Formats: sequence, structure tokens, C-alpha cells
Amino acid sequence: MKRTHTNGSLRIQNVNEKVQLIGWVAKRRNFGSLVFIDLRDRTGITQLVFDETIADQITHVRNEYILSVEGIVKERKDKNAKLATGDIEIKVEKVEIINHAETTPLIIADETDALEDTRLKYRYLDLRRPIMQKNLMQRAKITRAMREYLDNDGYIEIETPILAKSTPEGARDYLVPSRMHPGSFYALPQSPQQFKQLLMIAGFEKYYQVARCFRDEDLRADRQLDFTQLDIETSFLEEEEIQTMMEGLLAHVTQEAIGQKIVTPFPRITYQEAMDRYGSDKPDNRFGLELQDITSLFTKSEFKVFQDCLNKKGVIKALVIPNQAQMTRKEIDKLTDLAKKNGAKGLVTLKYMNEQLEGSPVKFFSSEEQQALIQTLQVKEQDLILIVSDMWHIACEVLGSLRNYFGTLLGYKKKDEFSFLWVVDFPMFEYSEEDKRYYAKHHPFTRPKKEDEHYLKEDPSKVRACAYDIVLNGYELGGGSLRIYEGEMQSTIFHILGYSQEEVQDRFGFFIDAFQYGTPPHGGIALGLDRVAMILTGSDSIRDVIAFPKNANAKCPMSDAPTPVDQTQLEELSIQIVEKK
Ligand code: AMO
Ligand code: AMP
Repeated sequence: MKRTHTNGSLRIQNVNEKVQLIGWVAKRRNFGSLVFIDLRDRTGITQLVFDETIADQITHVRNEYILSVEGIVKERKDKNAKLATGDIEIKVEKVEIINHAETTPLIIADETDALEDTRLKYRYLDLRRPIMQKNLMQRAKITRAMREYLDNDGYIEIETPILAKSTPEGARDYLVPSRMHPGSFYALPQSPQQFKQLLMIAGFEKYYQVARCFRDEDLRADRQLDFTQLDIETSFLEEEEIQTMMEGLLAHVTQEAIGQKIVTPFPRITYQEAMDRYGSDKPDNRFGLELQDITSLFTKSEFKVFQDCLNKKGVIKALVIPNQAQMTRKEIDKLTDLAKKNGAKGLVTLKYMNEQLEGSPVKFFSSEEQQALIQTLQVKEQDLILIVSDMWHIACEVLGSLRNYFGTLLGYKKKDEFSFLWVVDFPMFEYSEEDKRYYAKHHPFTRPKKEDEHYLKEDPSKVRACAYDIVLNGYELGGGSLRIYEGEMQSTIFHILGYSQEEVQDRFGFFIDAFQYGTPPHGGIALGLDRVAMILTGSDSIRDVIAFPKNANAKCPMSDAPTPVDQTQLEELSIQIVEKK
């Protein structure tokens, strides 16, 4: 079982060399007395030719058998320009069948119509598909480039515990029962947040870690229960300096991993502006289609929907989609459904045709209002106008989701375009009407803006945080903040978040204690490594850049995890299963 070359490496220059190859049978074709086999490994494919002197040794060889061959490199008559090795083939002189294979439950090729659960059940076969091999190899390159950049910049990689105590990042914790301490549980880290801050207190100054994080949350195409962050923390740097460092890192990563030069610095927009213009705190700015505020045009509106909304201090926002006035009733209904799914009470849809606005609410608009609308929005013939009136946040988000919908529909989202931006000045808190309390928008260790500190007492909803997200093509790639480094400020924030003194002591006591002993000003960021890999490889889901992911139902179809455990294991852990009522 020797090999002289891999299956992706032979070229025209190697003609007449004697070579040995090993690989899987990707394809077999019989041509009269000749048999052609494509031999595959992770580097590519080489065509083998078996003539009548040797073909009888491989009569039963089928796809996914493993062969070891020896032969001579020959120039091909019918060259295959699509294949790196397409100029040559191997005239096989010796063959050894190393292993046989059953018919695989999915075809090992880039194009697949296998259901995702089948792909995940036979993940080891799915991972043989060249595209998946390429994805995982690119992911490794991305991670290597990240480490390279940070190592060169004096960052130190430090591991932090997996069995830890709850870290508040907004999701549910995964708990691990302790055998030694019946009734007590470790929590798997939602992020290494507190540990990395403690490492700053410990004086390490520049930390990073390729860290596994665990969050019990509903899954989407860009979320997993266990995922990986490139986690970073630094002391004595300002927001801008952390962002500049990250831009350097991302430029290095895109250059190394996909050979793409990106322009730095990235644009920076405030959260307020991102919501106002794009209806999202993670705007995809590969395309325009910006939202516009038209509240002031309708202060005296006869249209009840607008009147009611303005009485409640809401806003009226519009989105113009060029050239879509021909949309059918059915298509428009779909837009309305999408708007309602995102929290709208309704959607006004107007068409501009023959220099007139059309749509049922137009009858409630005065001719001045109609003219003002046409002018403000700079409407052109055949444009479609979508209007939502609601509270600011909802109106923005609803039109933001429609903007995204049309971005996809109209082909504005080019996969080979990488558009980064920073969203800064996030609000510090989010108020939940349901729970009647504030939640931290980022996490409770985030520093409020100096100029907003006075709002902490008066109106916490007005406080902006020293928090920033890095966004790429409409995905939140990472988020970070400057941290609170004074015990007193930290207590104020916990108080606003509604934690009692005992709760603070119980949950964060060890952390607060550490702040007494000379805590440096510090801050950091975490990048979702799976998301970086997903976008840079042009994949549609992070599951395509993770070797063994869970499905949307939080299961691993291959191992069937999570599964029930033995009674004895439960007893050791002093755990009893009680059926949920
Ligand atoms: P945050 O919670 O914003 O910040 O997470 C940082 C980044 O991690 C990625 N991410 C995920 N990726 C896949 N699946 C998930 N379930 C998932 N959840 C988050 C996202 C996100 O932007 N400790 C802070 C960072 C800091 O303040 O330094 C934190 O974890 O890309
Ligand atoms: P209604 O008066 O509820 O029948 O609504 C009249 C039209 O206005 C319908 O097309 C609704 O979809 C639309 N509409 C209702 N509420 C809103 C809203 N908050 N914003 C935009 N359009 C709305």
C-alpha cells in the first residue's frame, strides 16, 4: 500500500512516470475491453485505464471500493479541462483491492438530492462528497489564518473550562449533573465571557481562544447548539482599536483562505441608522433598497390605519421596489403574510402605473399627500411601494424582512461579494413588555456610553452601550463590547436587570469579587467561526461547514443523540426522571 502521488497531483509533466495511487472508486465505465475508473481522494480525481490484460481482476469492483494501483502516466486523447488532472490518465499495470463497499445510501457527488437527515445519518459518506471535503479544508485554513494573525500580534491562546458555571448570553444553559455533588450542576459555557474577563484581571492583556460554546436555543440555518467562536479579549484598547485589529484579522483571513482582498476600514453605522435605513441590526449592504420615513407626510391623514398609529406615537415607513408593479394578487398576498409573520398588523401595497398611484388605501390619501409621497420616494413608473405604520421598531423590522426578501428574489445577493460593516452604539437594554423588565441587549458586563450614564437612573431604555457587531452579507458574524471594570457600575447594571443582591452574589459573586483587585479597562469580541466559514465557502447553512452537526430538530441522526441513559447512571447522579405535566 505505497503511494507516490495523491489523486489531485499528476499533470502533463508526469507523462511516462511510473506511479502508485490509492483511493476510492468514484466512477466506473466499461468501454468494450477497456475499463475506466475515476479514483478519488481528498485532493481530487485521477482517471485509471484497465486494458484486457488486467480488467478481469476488477470485474466486481464498484463505486467506493478502495484500490491501490501501480501504472504509467499517459497523455489523454480526450482531455478534460474541468479536472486538474484532466490531461493525463494512468495505464494500470498492477491493482490491489484493499476493501470493498456496499452500495451507498447517497451518491458521493457534489450535486445531491439526498434529504438532509439522510446526509446526516450517513455523515461519513456525505463528508466524502468533494464539496464537503473542500468546505472542511477551507474551514481549517480559516482557523489557521486566524491563529496566525493573532499569534503574530502577541495574542496568547488560553483554554477555559467546558464544565463551568452559567454564563448569561441570552440562551438556555446546558446543564451537566455532578456525581460528586448530588443535586448540583455544571453549566456548559454559552461563551467564555467571564473567564476571558478574569484573564484580563489576571494580567494576560491579549487573549484568544478557538472556543466551543453551547446554547440551548431554537435552531436556524446559521445556528447550532454547539458551535465555535474565535473569542478575543484585550486590555487598554478603545473600541476603535479593537475594531481596527479585527479588520486586519478578517482581511488576512479572506486573503489566506479564499484569496480575496477586502477593503478596510469597514463602514461603521449606528444601530439606530441600521434599523432606520435597512430595517435590521445586521444589514446586508450588498444592495440598496433603503427604507424611508414618511411619517411627516401623513400627520393629517384621513386613513384610519395611519391616524391610529400616529396617535400612539408610531411611525410610517416605506420601501420602494423598482419595476415590480406587475406583481400578481397572489404574490402581494405573500408579501402581506410575510409582513404579518414579522409582527405587522398589515401592509399597504401601492403600484405606480400610468403616473398614478394604485391600491385600495389611495382613496384615503389627499392629492397633496399623493404628490408628496411620489416626490419624497422618487417613485418611477412600474414601482411597487410597501408601507408599514407601526411602532418604530416593528415598522423597521417588517420592512427590513421585505427588503431581504426582495434582495434574494431580485438576485442582489451575490455570493462572491463580501460586504463587511460595523454596527455600533447598540442600546444597552431591551425592555420586555411580557416580563415587565429590562434585559441586557448584549450581556450584563457591557459598558454604557460615558455620555449616556446619566440615563441609567432616569430612563435605562435611552442608554447606549459601547457594543459593536461585525456584519457580513446580512449575517451577524460577531459581537463584542467594552466591559465594565468598576464594581459599583456592575452592581448598578445588575440592579437595572432586576437581579437581587443574593442572586448577584450567588451567580456572579466570584466574578464581582475579582473586580476589587485592580481590574484593567478591557474589552473584546467573539466571531462565530462557523458563520465565517459558511459565508466564505458560499454555503447556505452552517451545517455544511461542521463535520457532525445536529439537525433542525436538535438531534444527531447518525448517533441518535440525545438518547435515554441507563437507570444505574441516573442513580449514580441522584437523578430521577419525572414526566412533564
Ligand atoms: P454573541 O452572543 O453575540 O457574543 O456571540 C458571538 C457570535 O457567535 C456566533 N453565535 C452562534 N453561531 C452559531 N450558532 C449559535 N447558536 C450562535 N450563537 C452565537 C455569532 C455571534 O455573533 N461573549 C460575547 C462576545 C463578547 O462580548 O466578546 C458573545 O458570545 O456569530
Ligand atoms: P384595515 O383597515 O385593517 O382593513 O386595513 C386597510 C389596509 O391597510 C389593508 O390593506 C391592511 O393590510 C393595511 N394595514 C392595516 N394595518 C396596517 C399597518 N399597521 N401598516 C400598514 N398597513 C396596514
